[in-house]
Amino acid sequence: MKQRENWGSRIGFIMAAAGSAVGLGNIWRFPYMAGDNGGGAFILIYLGFVFVIGLSVMIAEFAVGRRTGLAAVGAYKSYSDRWTFAGVIGVISAFFIMGFYPVVGGWSLAYVFKSLTGLMSDSGAIGDAFGGFIGSPVEPLGWMLVFLVFNILIVAKGIAGGIEKAARVLMPTLLVLLAFLTVRSVTLPGASAGLEFIFKPDFSEVSGQTLLAALGQAFFSLSLGMGCMITYGSYLSKKETLPNNALIVTALDVGVAILAGIAIFPALFSFGMEPTAGPGLVFVVVPIIFAEMGAIGTLFGAVFFIALTVAALTSSVSLLEVVVAYLIDQRGMERNLFILLAEL
Ligand code: PFF
Repeated sequence: MKQRENWGSRIGFIMAAAGSAVGLGNIWRFPYMAGDNGGGAFILIYLGFVFVIGLSVMIAEFAVGRRTGLAAVGAYKSYSDRWTFAGVIGVISAFFIMGFYPVVGGWSLAYVFKSLTGLMSDSGAIGDAFGGFIGSPVEPLGWMLVFLVFNILIVAKGIAGGIEKAARVLMPTLLVLLAFLTVRSVTLPGASAGLEFIFKPDFSEVSGQTLLAALGQAFFSLSLGMGCMITYGSYLSKKETLPNNALIVTALDVGVAILAGIAIFPALFSFGMEPTAGPGLVFVVVPIIFAEMGAIGTLFGAVFFIALTVAALTSSVSLLEVVVAYLIDQRGMERNLFILLAEL
């Protein structure tokens, strides 16, 4: 049997797994969810789910992957044929999420350039500009293809030479950029209203629905239940202690979600904007905030969209790897084939 490729270093593995976990879920979903569902009360419940359930599931996924040395489908199958479907569900979920990550990643990449070329010069036109951009048939498609090329190139280069190498550069970059935005955001006048929105606990908002929302967010944000951490675990050396690594990945994921909230919401409140989530938040509200900052907003805008692109790319890479690893393990395909395609 062919020797399975391993991560080159412990830190590289941690960066790659954190890269998968940290994505759009942290940046455009978590802050608003927290604010809309009881602030600090939601965060407390979320942290409970993350550290009690999420962390154990992550350790289990790493363990299953490492022990079997196979990605999701093969890993479950090697325990019992009856469980193969669980791996299949994971691969199918990853495949479908992969359907929207490169779309949004492409938009984000486009917005790096749009920020630098005058998007923020007229705050009144930003909403229409976004509508026009995503409504046009060619432009978003082109950007999606560029994003996909990066995505495919990274996965094609393999575990240590592709995914790990990219994550080791991209993840620290993301952290530095977010820290930079956070400092700007909290030093704006009236920033405390944003912090209050996200963090002030309001237990009267907590219902059964809130618990479900927090649990769903915990699973999605930690990239659990989709074969991703099983796949990443399958490239892990037997020497590693799993709980430590899982704890660091989990802490990084939670840390970035909270940092993203502090980077966006105080600024949002400072400029009197309405809190929201999703595309409307990052492609309309956030650019308007930067436009209101004047000339320096151009720089902050570009920094924000680079960070968003990085977060999307490292998650998208992990989603593609779930599918590619399945094809390699179960369908006998060669990663070299992807490299060849990518290098053509
Ligand atoms: N964890 C990512 C996020 O929070 O945006 C999304 C994700 C990536 C889920 C990879 C699942 C996965 F396998």
